[in-house]
Amino acid sequence: MDKDRFSILDFKRKKVSGEKITMLTAYDYPMAMIIDKAGIDAILVGDTLNMVVLGRESTVSVTMDEMIHHCKAVRRGTRRAFLIGDMPFMSFQASSEDAVRNAGRFVKEAGCDAVKLEGGREVVERIRSIVTAGIPVLGHIGLTPQSSSKLGGYKVQGKDAETAKRLMTDAADLEKAGCFAVVIECVPRELALKITKHVSIPTIGIGAGNHCDGQVLVTHDMIGLFDGFLPKFVKKYADIGNSIRE
Ligand code: KIV
Repeated sequence: MDKDRFSILDFKRKKVSGEKITMLTAYDYPMAMIIDKAGIDAILVGDTLNMVVLGRESTVSVTMDEMIHHCKAVRRGTRRAFLIGDMPFMSFQASSEDAVRNAGRFVKEAGCDAVKLEGGREVVERIRSIVTAGIPVLGHIGLTPQSSSKLGGYKVQGKDAETAKRLMTDAADLEKAGCFAVVIECVPRELALKITKHVSIPTIGIGAGNHCDGQVLVTHDMIGLFDGFLPKFVKKYADIGNSIRE
C-alpha cells in the first residue's frame, strides 16, 4: 500500500493527537480527483448521491448497483484519501447475511476501503458481522436520513435528556461492535462534545458543532452545486451553480 495513503490507523492517530479529520463526499471521478489532491483525509460516496446527483426526493431509493457504479468512478480518481461507501437503505437491515454480502460488494467490486451504515443499537449485530468479515465500518448516529420518517422528519436529535443519553449509549455500543469511527449528524454541539469524550473512536460531525474529532460535509451543498434544501449548518464556500448560470 502507498505509504502516503490515509489508513484506518490514521483515524485513531488523529483522535489521539487532536488533529482534525477531514471528510467530504464525492460521487464521480473529477470531483474525487480534486478532493483527493487537496489532501482531504477521507472521501465518502454518500447515499446523498440519490438527491444531489440523481435528482431524487430522498436517500432511500438509491440501489446497491447505483452506489457501486459511482464508487467505482470515485475509486479511479482517489489516490491518497480513505474511501468509504455508504450502505443504502435495505442493503443491511433485513439480515446479517445481506449486510456482509453487500458490504463485500463495496470492497470487492468498487475498491472501497470501508463502508458506512446508519443506526445505533439496532444495527450492532450487522456491524459485528461486517467487521468479522474483515471490512471496516463507519457508524452514523443522530439524524439518520434513511429512517427520517421514524424520527418525524429531518430534525435535530438528542435535545432532551433521554434521547441524549440514548445517543451516548449508541456511540459506545458502536465502538464495542468494532466501528473505527462514528458520524454524528445534527445533534447539539454540547452533546457532540460529550460523545467525543465518552468514546475512544473518532467522532465525525455534520451539523454537530466544532468539538468533534473531524467534520464531514456534502460537497455539492458546500460549493453551491445543489439547488435543493440546504441545511442551516452548511457553510457555503463557493457558488459554482451561480457561476455556471452566469
Ligand atoms: O450520505 C451522505 O452524504 C452522508 C453524510 C451526510 C454524512 O451520510
